Amino acid sequence: MKTLGEFIVEKQADFPHATGELTALLSAIKLGAKIIHRDINKAGLLDILGANGVENVQGEQQMKLDLYANEKLKSALKARGIVAGIASEEEDEFVIFEGFEDGRYVVLMDPLDGSSNIDVNVSVGTIFSIYHRVTPVGTPITEEDFMQPGSQQVAAGYVVYGSSTMLVYTTGNGVNAFTYDPSLGVFCLNQERLTYPPTGKMYSINEGYYVHFPIGVKKYIKFCQEEDEATYRPYTSRYIGSLVADFHRNLLKGGIYLYPQTASHPKGKLRLLYECNPMAFLAEQAGGKASDGVNRILDLKPQTIHERCPFYVGNQYMVEDVERFISDNQ
Ligand code: AHG
Ligand code: MN
Ligand code: MN
Ligand code: MN
Repeated sequence: MKTLGEFIVEKQADFPHATGELTALLSAIKLGAKIIHRDINKAGLLDILGANGVENVQGEQQMKLDLYANEKLKSALKARGIVAGIASEEEDEFVIFEGFEDGRYVVLMDPLDGSSNIDVNVSVGTIFSIYHRVTPVGTPITEEDFMQPGSQQVAAGYVVYGSSTMLVYTTGNGVNAFTYDPSLGVFCLNQERLTYPPTGKMYSINEGYYVHFPIGVKKYIKFCQEEDEATYRPYTSRYIGSLVADFHRNLLKGGIYLYPQTASHPKGKLRLLYECNPMAFLAEQAGGKASDGVNRILDLKPQTIHERCPFYVGNQYMVEDVERFISDNQ
């Protein structure tokens, strides 16, 4: 058994960006994950279920656990003294960590992903994305530090709070998966250099919005449902409603997650900076692909912190299939 802490120290030399600071940063996320794990598992007993009665900047009903997770992660990251500030789904603007202008990192996060599931005991997650700041150390960070393309990430990962709690991350040197052992309070290495299986049989999409999907996506869904033994079709439809949980299952078993443009979300629902970019970094590191239907997600130049984009992520050949249907049906 190897813990996350031991793994990072052992692999120190391999990680292109993993300075001692990045190790400390990842351990802050580990701490946040342990706290959220503990309180999600007894959310029904604490007064942290249900809506917070506030609408967040996304126009969503903020759940108490959205805010709880946001606060716990924010304080864990700030305490390390190496993060100059954060951007979060649950914060209208980016947050400068006063007094930590010397921090070399900025972190973007979705503190609780899939929060519509939290009150019905279905898997949820946390997503994080880490960059070196681009503004001079010693000065307060600016929005420019958060407007970097996803290709500049130095690390990214997620925590999935499911039947077990797992932390999966990359620093650009493959994807590594750890399972939390609450009895010991440590994350133990599950799998090193996790990659997509060569073929997949699952597609994940909210077919409730089918009527509004681009024609190419409608044709791709029909393609998924056609019989073709050579390509393992028909595929199985699996959709949990938590990006992290759907992504994690598709990474292990092979598949594609799709969130196209819809009537209510003409640019797609998922947020580029703290959902699509980190998951795209992981997908590529696992031999997969992530696209907005036309462009590589990691090449997109962000314009605003909460901007959204269509999102297709999973086995490379499956993403390329849907890109072909989209381009053939412009
Ligand atoms: P969040 O809970 O962080 O706002 O993210 C929810 C996202 C994603 O996790 C999930 O796949 C998708 O929204 C579900 O959207 P629909 O309910 O529209 O299918
Ligand atoms: Mn939300
Ligand atoms: Mn989310
Ligand atoms: Mn969220």
